[in-house]
Amino acid sequence: MRYAAITERLADLGSGKWAIHLQARRKAAEGIPVIELTIGEPDVRPDPALLDECARAMYAGRTRYSNGRGEPSVVNALVEKYRKRRSDVTARNVLCFPGTQTALFTVMLGLLDRDDEVLVGDPYYATYEGVIAASGARMAPVPLHPEKNFHLQAEDLARAVTPRSRVVLLNTPHNPTGAVLTAEEIAAIGEVCRKHDLWIVCDEVYEELIFSTAFASPFDDPALAERTIVVSSISKSHAAPGFRSGWAIGPAEFCDRLLPVSETMLFGVQPFIADMTAMALTQPFDTATVMRANYERRARLLADVLEREGTLKPMMPEGGMFIVVDVSGTGLAGQDFASQLLERKHVAVMPGASFGEEAANFIRVSLTVDDEQLAIAAGRMVELASELADRRPRPQRAAG
Ligand SMILES: Cc1ncc(COP(=O)(O)O)c(C=O)c1O
Repeated sequence: MRYAAITERLADLGSGKWAIHLQARRKAAEGIPVIELTIGEPDVRPDPALLDECARAMYAGRTRYSNGRGEPSVVNALVEKYRKRRSDVTARNVLCFPGTQTALFTVMLGLLDRDDEVLVGDPYYATYEGVIAASGARMAPVPLHPEKNFHLQAEDLARAVTPRSRVVLLNTPHNPTGAVLTAEEIAAIGEVCRKHDLWIVCDEVYEELIFSTAFASPFDDPALAERTIVVSSISKSHAAPGFRSGWAIGPAEFCDRLLPVSETMLFGVQPFIADMTAMALTQPFDTATVMRANYERRARLLADVLEREGTLKPMMPEGGMFIVVDVSGTGLAGQDFASQLLERKHVAVMPGASFGEEAANFIRVSLTVDDEQLAIAAGRMVELASELADRRPRPQRAAG
């Protein structure tokens, strides 16, 4: 049978990147106790009040069709949230989606044509390549340098711009590195985008998980309002990824044009989840505060253990729920180190290569197990690093 080219373009961009995670789950199913530090799944539960609200809404009959833009309760809650950041936001700037992922997918469909290019800092979140390729466009990676703490540099971005460039896809706080862009960096990036008339899509799904630096976004700069689209969700902020509740906030004309695309695909999102999301956005919950403290403490804990040994080089994140570790001191790339760590020590981490070429020497460790488990995992990483060091050929001593 004949298939459309999209199935070829996405063939290697689906779950292939998560091979180690799937392998770890298979081992666990066979009864092997694996410490799983792969995916970004919050390890706390959503607040019970949100679960109650969802159930209440279902029993109250909020199980019917919605509309394409989103239930008024959530749209209003989002207007309120984003008006605190930019006073001109109205309902015409809002579109609801089942999660950031679908928001990204649809936004890219609305901005890109075949062979257009999207500039993305490398390393990047594993699904970006797929959402870009789905539209027929190409991802143009822009290296993020460890010595710059993986912060995207405007000069690097400017160098990567071509006549086919259409969009800059930002992610702050950043997955996998935890980098949080500063207002100055965003202003410089914004300048490049204005000069070359580029859209900015900013994935802010970890906005609530910043440790101590300030959050900054191109969305907050009125001079960038006409070209900036924010995508986000309650997946991380409220530990509710399975609810699939997210949004895109962008210029009114963009949202009006994207609405039929979204309607054609989704026919609206679920009213009972909308009610729960409206509650999440308008009432105070301490879920993010708890996670923030946990993830920062655990990142420090892991970094301290690895730094004491010295071969593995952790890079302290500024936010998010991961830490990246340079494993090149062991003589192995991230992929081989992650494979050996799973096979020999039963600890599952993501190879950096799943997040782009620039992360090939790294592994990404999810901080979503308790401190005790993480300390055990860190100990096993150190064990593997020293076993690998023992096996490496020693330098020859000069004769005589
Ligand atoms: C950077 C980034 N963007 C988007 C997503 C997907 O988020 P959602 O659950 O809202 O679709 C994730 C999930 O891990 C992520 O890390």
